[in-house]
Amino acid sequence: MKNQTIAVVGAGHMAGALIGGMVRSKLVPARSIVAARRSADALAELQKKWGVRTTTDNRKAVAEADIVMLAVKPQMAKKVMEDLAGAVRTDQLVISVMAGVTTAAINKALRVDCPVVRAMPNTPCLVDAGATAIAAGAHAGDKDLARAEAVFASVGLVATLPESALDAVTGLSGSGPVYIYMVIEAMIDGGVKMGIPRAIAAKLAAQTVYGAAKLVLETGKHPAILKDEVTTPGGTAISAIHVLESRGLRSVLIDGVVAATNRSSELSKLLAE
Ligand SMILES: NC(=O)c1ccc[n+]([C@@H]2O[C@H](COP(=O)([O-])OP(=O)(O)OC[C@H]3O[C@@H](n4cnc5c(N)ncnc54)[C@H](OP(=O)(O)O)[C@@H]3O)[C@@H](O)[C@H]2O)c1
Repeated sequence: MKNQTIAVVGAGHMAGALIGGMVRSKLVPARSIVAARRSADALAELQKKWGVRTTTDNRKAVAEADIVMLAVKPQMAKKVMEDLAGAVRTDQLVISVMAGVTTAAINKALRVDCPVVRAMPNTPCLVDAGATAIAAGAHAGDKDLARAEAVFASVGLVATLPESALDAVTGLSGSGPVYIYMVIEAMIDGGVKMGIPRAIAAKLAAQTVYGAAKLVLETGKHPAILKDEVTTPGGTAISAIHVLESRGLRSVLIDGVVAATNRSSELSKLLAE
């Protein structure tokens, strides 16, 4: 990756997190990244913060790039890609984080059969704890996936899936942080109700979620095993489990993932129209 030049078109929140990850992890030298967006002030900030090169001219950014990252909002995607038509070549890899925009739509709008890898990252990428799924388009091969994986691995975990799974990924890890914020918020309120000062309850609740997730990832144990290991007969955890089960905690979270997946698929269809 070291000698790759990366053009980032739509250098906003998500792309900013990825630029930060790539620079901090020294995936590529900062000067090998060209960030593009319309706001010159925002570009000056990116330049100051990360030492990347910047431009307000998307076509100029793309001209010398090995990798073109597309990160504008999905509603802007068509226009921005049509403006880039003719500027992107078959020897360039396009990596898109634009939700709901298919690799076929990207090839069509750019009017070139270049390799495209679509990614669905999530906001914990901002703190190097992202969960990203990547999927290869029709013209992308293993080497293209490997380059995309390196980009997202600089800000967290990466999984490769077929493109058809990306709506489900949106429902699981893309939107997932929101479900967990609600869980944390509710746990804080539970602690406050039982007399713990809110600021301390907030730290304890967030660290508990963080620690439990870390145990799942680091031990590789099934969460049900970890749950059973700390459930003492006649103890506190089993009393809570009984209540949580009878109120449908697991079913409601499953339903949440299904609802977000279905909505993602509806929105993709609207974007395709
Ligand atoms: N945030 C998430 O959790 C998340 C997760 C997965 C995927 N995504 C995807 O990431 C993409 C970006 O989301 P975001 O939250 O980072 O949005 P964002 O902060 O609004 O970033 C989009 C950027 O695009 C720039 N832009 C708009 N028009 C442009 C143009 N014509 N040429 C160049 N740049 C242009 C905007 O800057 P200017 O106004 O200065 O041009 C803006 O900074 C979306 O497609 C979203 O689906 C986000």
